[in-house]
Amino acid sequence: MERLQQIIAAHASAEGPLLPILHDVQAEFGHVSEEAIRAIALALNLSRAEVHGVVSFYHDFHAEPDARPVLKLCRAEACQARGVEALAAGLPENPRVKVETVYCLGLCSVGPNAMVGSKVHARLDAAKLGALVEALA
Ligand code: FES
Repeated sequence: MERLQQIIAAHASAEGPLLPILHDVQAEFGHVSEEAIRAIALALNLSRAEVHGVVSFYHDFHAEPDARPVLKLCRAEACQARGVEALAAGLPENPRVKVETVYCLGLCSVGPNAMVGSKVHARLDAAKLGALVEALA
């Protein structure tokens, strides 16, 4: 709770503090709990429904902790031009891995790209992407 209050205090006086607070809470705790929503709403003079609405709208925020490894697949324009949509369509479901869509990882010239942790995997093809998912599962 103390860390949550520190995060809120760090952004509360900034303009548009809600998203930065939510990003920091998500990064710190791995999710945005009901307790956090209540505290943020109180601090920013918002309703809990308003904060909850933002949490549920954005992919980056999760109401529950999710321990699965995350593969972030870039589906922005440059990676689309290099075939990421076909890769995504052919990717077998694996319930032990969470595949999230992101929009640009900053390495557009070597796409299609995905990120696991802080490492970018470039020039993906179906075999490389499948192996990446299998290695995470
Ligand atoms: S569009 Fe995929 S890395 Fe930029």
